[in-house]
Amino acid sequence: MSVGLYIGAFLLICISQYWIYRWRNPRSSGKLPPGSMGFPLLGETLHFFAPNHSSDVPPFVRERMKRYGPVFKTNLVGRPVVVSTDPEFNHYVFQQEGRLFQSWYPDTFTEIFGRQNVGSLHGFMYKYLKNMVLNLFGPESLKEKLLFQIENTAWKSLSIWSTQPTVDLKEATATMIFDLTAKKLISYDPDQSSENLRENFVAFIQGLISFPLDIPGTAYNKCLQGRKKAMKMLRTMLAQRRASPDKQYGDFFDYVVQELKKERTILTEEIALDLMFVLLFASFETTSLALTATVKFLTDNPSTLHRLTEEHEAIRRMRENPDSGLTWKEYKSMTFTSQVINETVRLANIVPGIFRKALQDIQIKGFTIPAGWAVMVCPPAVHLNPDIYKDPLVFNPWRWQGTEINGASKHFMAFGGGMRFCVGTDFTKLQMTVFLHCLVTKYRWKPIKGGEMVRTPGLTFPNGFHIQLLEKMQ
Ligand code: HEM
Repeated sequence: MSVGLYIGAFLLICISQYWIYRWRNPRSSGKLPPGSMGFPLLGETLHFFAPNHSSDVPPFVRERMKRYGPVFKTNLVGRPVVVSTDPEFNHYVFQQEGRLFQSWYPDTFTEIFGRQNVGSLHGFMYKYLKNMVLNLFGPESLKEKLLFQIENTAWKSLSIWSTQPTVDLKEATATMIFDLTAKKLISYDPDQSSENLRENFVAFIQGLISFPLDIPGTAYNKCLQGRKKAMKMLRTMLAQRRASPDKQYGDFFDYVVQELKKERTILTEEIALDLMFVLLFASFETTSLALTATVKFLTDNPSTLHRLTEEHEAIRRMRENPDSGLTWKEYKSMTFTSQVINETVRLANIVPGIFRKALQDIQIKGFTIPAGWAVMVCPPAVHLNPDIYKDPLVFNPWRWQGTEINGASKHFMAFGGGMRFCVGTDFTKLQMTVFLHCLVTKYRWKPIKGGEMVRTPGLTFPNGFHIQLLEKMQ
């Protein structure tokens, strides 16, 4: 009996030793990139999620770059991942979308954004949705409809904020953008609704890239609860609209209702709702972070603020009526502003990791990436590379002088790259530019508190960047 027990224990030890060995040395048809797979099950997850108070490349990545070089392997939330900080490698990953690599995000993302969100769809369905979004936020729509609406919203918001003793800028700009996008998508008006849709998205960015522990109190759990409530509201709204399909509101729901009425359509209600949810989140959370970061950088860099103000005041002076609305031509002429925006998104690194999955064994830079492994492209490592950007931690919009950046490049991937390049880029840039125009031509501001950047590994302003807005003497 005791011999049997010994043999059992011995076998158990052998199996677990072998399992640990396999964890640390995954199978591969070739040479894997260097790096550590961390502890069994946990991998290096805890270290990856540790908050970081610098604007520099996250310590998790920085330390491993030093130890292993620009491409290394790790394990995050139970998944083998190859992290790339190498511009050529990143470029290759983006260019091979749908062939060798495919857009893939950790389970936390798909649980929160829905299994059928645009980032997780591929092929025909993906192209169909992308076209829908481009119709809504592409250049034509921005020029013909959104420019005017964005400017109106910005003036209104600024005028309200200037009557308040302090404004939490991230919160205030997020609400401003959320309301604008929600109106455009679903004609949602917070003043007319008994439930607050925006409330469900609070604390989202913390939960999105967090440890996937779905128990009360965790950031992940809060996110999932928020999603449930928001989806319920969206589902109810869509059902009401489908009940009276001939009534037009001039929003995106009109389009969805018409599509769903067709006999031959690939769109389903679930896909449309997941898309709505993603667009609401993607539009307000990213742009409000970018705007808050811009105002913070301008506060800390008076010479940039001065130059930016000059650009906008000159445009006002050129008009017959200085208070007439912004035109598309004026918007396109704001060169320094676009440099400020580029520099902000380079330094703020709002999206700290872009994920893909290898569809087959891939040979690259002398390494093999086994099929099924995840790849994380790391934009901060590219944007803060001193060989490309001199004094990379310094906010210097002049470094963009003379460069035409409309898409992505090997050294600029704040909005991604390749086929999956962000469909909201133009919308974001327009909103930021219009807001800055209204802000610097009519107001000055005083920082009250907060503004410190903390990455978790997303970017947040934990104590809030509070400013007091003061009307300029005209
Ligand atoms: C500062 C603002 C923004 C930043 C930094 C940003 C960044 C990014 C990045 C890096 C990607 C690529 C993800 C990937 O390759 O997997 C992306 C994709 C995407 N973005 Fe943005 N974004 C911003 C604003 C917006 C806005 C305003 C919208 C909404 C209209 C939006 C909607 C999307 C969508 C739907 C995708 C998925 C596209 C696809 O899978 O092809 N983004 N964004």
